[in-house]
Amino acid sequence: MAVSEPKSHIVVLGNEKGGSGKSTTAMHIVAALMAEGYRVGTVDLDSRQRTLSRYIDNRRVYANRNDLTLPLPEHRIVAPSSADNRTDAQADEYERLNAAVRELTAVNDYVVIDCPGSDGHLARLGHGLADTLITPVNDSFIDIDLLASVDPDTFDVAGPSHYAEMVWEQRKHRLLRDGSSIDWLVMRNRLSSLDARNKRRTGRVLERLAGRVGFRLAPGFGERVIYRELFLQGLTLLDLGNGKARSMTMSHVAARQELRGLMNTLTLPKVSQPARAS
Ligand SMILES: Nc1ncnc2c1ncn2[C@@H]1O[C@H](COP(=O)(O)OP(=O)(O)OP(=O)(O)O)[C@@H](O)[C@H]1O
Ligand SMILES: [Mg+2]
Repeated sequence: MAVSEPKSHIVVLGNEKGGSGKSTTAMHIVAALMAEGYRVGTVDLDSRQRTLSRYIDNRRVYANRNDLTLPLPEHRIVAPSSADNRTDAQADEYERLNAAVRELTAVNDYVVIDCPGSDGHLARLGHGLADTLITPVNDSFIDIDLLASVDPDTFDVAGPSHYAEMVWEQRKHRLLRDGSSIDWLVMRNRLSSLDARNKRRTGRVLERLAGRVGFRLAPGFGERVIYRELFLQGLTLLDLGNGKARSMTMSHVAARQELRGLMNTLTLPKVSQPARAS
């Protein structure tokens, strides 16, 4: 983490592609920040699936049932508007999202926003609020296609995708609105330990894309059962091995290293003195 700043910092997990690991990554980033003693607010913009919300609910229930003290974020869900008229609906979504974020940023060091895996007005608003935007992608050219089109023979970048253009658009609005920028990181998720050739190829293309499309490349998470199986208990890697929650294996240690690698690359500013865990 870098220099001190008083303002709270907003981290957004976004990608129009469903199932790329946004909610899983969001929960692990939240846990990593809380483990350092920061106060964290969370916003779920995916009111249909509510994965992040359910993760947090499961965590609360697990802690109560097992008489554990687990840190929890201050959570909000912002659902799409039910207004018939498009202009009214967009104004309503803008109001409610901004109100939720205002409340959370007033008392939390970080706010983590989880976007749905599709384009929509709320998702776009969410992207526009990001100080740091993280886009997890599965390690496949189908997912990379969501960032830019790539020549099949040369692997040259032919042009940016709708999603990349949407991020640029939000960056532009952001700059005009408050003069600040969005630090965009793309992170590879579910990296296979077996398919080394594909991994090298996609890695090379992503490196090329980073400069062209305007993002930083972050180290990703491997394909590991542990990222999936803790959901029902609302636990994360960082809750393991403390003698109470669950025990650890070598794969868990490696996964923690991956999470540490991601957090280090994010270089989030230290927004305030860490609140001491009670
Ligand atoms: N590194 C990983 N290893 C193994 N499984 C993973 C990993 N990351 C995510 N998963 C699994 O992949 C699926 C999709 O993950 P997740 O729900 O986090 O994606 P998402 O981008 O939030 O999806 P959506 O767009 O539908 O909201 C889930 O079943 C999750 O448990
Ligand atoms: Mg999700």
